[in-house]
Amino acid sequence: MCGIVGVLSNHEAAPILVDALKRLEYRGYDSAGIATINDLKLDRRRAVGKLVNLSDLLVHEPLAGKAGIGHTRWATHGAPSVDNAHPHRAGRVAVVHNGIIENFKELREFLAEKDIGYSTDTDTETIALLAQYYLDEGLAPRDAAEQTIARLDGAYALCFLFDGEDNLLIAARKGSPLAIGHGEGEMFVGSDAIALAPMTDRITYLDEGDWAVVTRDSVEIRDANGNIANRDMKVIQIDTAMVDKGGYKHFMAKEIAEQPTVLQGALAHYIDTDTMQVQLPDPGLDFGKVERLSLVACGTAYLACMVAKYWFEQHARLPVEVDVASEFRYREPPVPKGTVALFVSQSGETADTLAALRYMDGRADSILSVVNVPESSIARESDLPLPTLAGAEIGVASTKAFTCQLTTLAMLVLKAAQDRGEMSAEDVAEKLKLLRALPGMINQALNIESQTQALAGELAEARDILFLGRGQMYPLAHEGALKLKEISYIHAEAYASGELKHGPIALVDPNVPVIVMAPRDALFEKTVSNMQEVMARGGKVLLIADEKGAQEAGEGTWRTLIMPEVDDFLAPILYAIPAQLLAYHTAVAKGTDVDQPRNLAKSVTVE
Ligand code: F6R
Repeated sequence: MCGIVGVLSNHEAAPILVDALKRLEYRGYDSAGIATINDLKLDRRRAVGKLVNLSDLLVHEPLAGKAGIGHTRWATHGAPSVDNAHPHRAGRVAVVHNGIIENFKELREFLAEKDIGYSTDTDTETIALLAQYYLDEGLAPRDAAEQTIARLDGAYALCFLFDGEDNLLIAARKGSPLAIGHGEGEMFVGSDAIALAPMTDRITYLDEGDWAVVTRDSVEIRDANGNIANRDMKVIQIDTAMVDKGGYKHFMAKEIAEQPTVLQGALAHYIDTDTMQVQLPDPGLDFGKVERLSLVACGTAYLACMVAKYWFEQHARLPVEVDVASEFRYREPPVPKGTVALFVSQSGETADTLAALRYMDGRADSILSVVNVPESSIARESDLPLPTLAGAEIGVASTKAFTCQLTTLAMLVLKAAQDRGEMSAEDVAEKLKLLRALPGMINQALNIESQTQALAGELAEARDILFLGRGQMYPLAHEGALKLKEISYIHAEAYASGELKHGPIALVDPNVPVIVMAPRDALFEKTVSNMQEVMARGGKVLLIADEKGAQEAGEGTWRTLIMPEVDDFLAPILYAIPAQLLAYHTAVAKGTDVDQPRNLAKSVTVE
């Protein structure tokens, strides 16, 4: 969380910084700020709330200069306020930071002994104070930054700017991603390549522990031991159309609508259409040798893992454990021989998922990841990174990344089933044929949009909403509830439908809509019985099922959403669509900030 950017340009830096921050705003939007060097003088502007507030401020109080740094904040230490907004400044030093400095109290004590006090609630200010302390000790800016970085514990991506220096940025990375962008006589620093996309597609990613001295025509990267490090420069392809709303009211709406197209791309990547078999990138994996899978992720990505557990166990007869990363990493579970670990993440930077991956490194036989950002830390630290190919996902609530994660996981399941002799090549080819028809079915499912819109007004009135699902629809019920609460702020919970009568049924009353996700699979009748139990107690049920299912379920439901008929295996992917549309339109009806819901950020790089 938090996005940072640095610019050494030949043009005015402020507009470039603000434009880059726009593309980083998904990482946090509690406050924003920039600092520039003009006539060798450092100055800054900061504003609470969305970036637009900073832009407004800059109209009235412009900042000139061709070198600068910028920040968009997701608050960790200290409430969102101008004082706590970045860039933080101490004397000649300004710094922007993404991450958490764990030893900042200890550093404050060190500074207090030197009679240096602090004036904000943030950990980041300590970095600026420490660097200024080293400048006062007579060190040059580069050396002051080096000494400062060496004393920091925790996670950070940093960029320093110094009063009196209009051709110098110092950037450092530990635990949070950082990219250096190479221009023509210009140089850039950014939390990701998307931020830098309009300026350059030539990117060098810093490795863990690296720090860099950046000027307009050079970059010198050193590793954590101070040795010169040669890091590859790559040409990154970013479709800038992906970072545009493309006529939609929200990124989320655009990303929901994009699903047929991006899924088609993902399927084309993994299906060898000559043989109709699954093709994995090198080095591949023989699931015949795998005894156990450990799936770890957070949030929506965790729910994709939950679906995959049903799939791997049923179709490949492969035992699977699924864990929330923040619990897994501190549980320190034993890892039996034959375990393969699989991490799922849109951003590839989620701090807990990355920490869990590092725990499994050396313990598991192999590390797989299903990741949307190919250059991310999780992808780079995996033995076999599998791209989900959803394209840039900007809306904070995950939509197309989720269905692409499920599609990629489905590919792994089929490969595993075949490797383990649970499915023949013909069976796999048959399932792949069905998967190839999925984009078309999603297109069809998107036709329920107007109905979800009509329903949304009624759902928006509710204080609580329950979601029910059985089997592989149980994780989907969770996804429906997560999406809804995340963007509409309506309290929503999900239950395994068979679990309802063990307590939660007490919540059922005529004011609590109960959304039942029930494709006509092997468990359909059981789900319908649970639905009847709700209706018998005055509950108002919104049934999501196909035409025949809705008929079989009988009368008495409050509302019904009719879905296309779908093969059991694919149902979790298809039923993500009504979950997304209901959440989206309910949030729109409530007038919430759909793409940037309160308190959230897209890339969670702190624990
Ligand atoms: C919910 C959502 C989050 C993320 C979670 C993990 O809509 O987007 O729950 O799924 O923060 O993020 P990644 O996938 O980047 O690891």
